[in-house]
Amino acid sequence: MGIRNILKDDDPLLRKTSKTVGEFGERLHILLDDMRDTLIAADGAGLAAPQVGVLRRAVIVLNEDKLIELINPEITEINGEIIEPEGCLSIPGIFGTVNRPLFVKVRAQDRNGNYFEVSGEGMLARAFCHEIDHLNGILFTDKVIEYIDPENINKE
Ligand code: NI
Repeated sequence: MGIRNILKDDDPLLRKTSKTVGEFGERLHILLDDMRDTLIAADGAGLAAPQVGVLRRAVIVLNEDKLIELINPEITEINGEIIEPEGCLSIPGIFGTVNRPLFVKVRAQDRNGNYFEVSGEGMLARAFCHEIDHLNGILFTDKVIEYIDPENINKE
């Protein structure tokens, strides 16, 4: 188990642009494994490498029980829009509605450097967009339309 510290929203590292991953070796694999352990321990839906202080373009997203690892992800297609609540492990206790695409297609590399495409709708599309924003130093609070009382929310 490698649970790493999750940076909070006043940390300047969260505002940096992450660098492209160029090496797909053990160091990346340990990072991804630690990110998974950290995400599960925090009971979150997604995590980006800069949230654990590593300024590299790597994110993980939980889709039901399946973990999706996206290295150097690029959104290649978007469709529709929907305003729904979201939150962030780096900004605990704060929730707000954000306008996101209803559907996105993402091209990325896996942990061994192989390219693949994955598409997501609804909450999965939202998670992809939220995590990819982290790689560009963008937090969901930059995009909030309306903050929500956590008492009135039942999703993360
Ligand atoms: Ni986040």
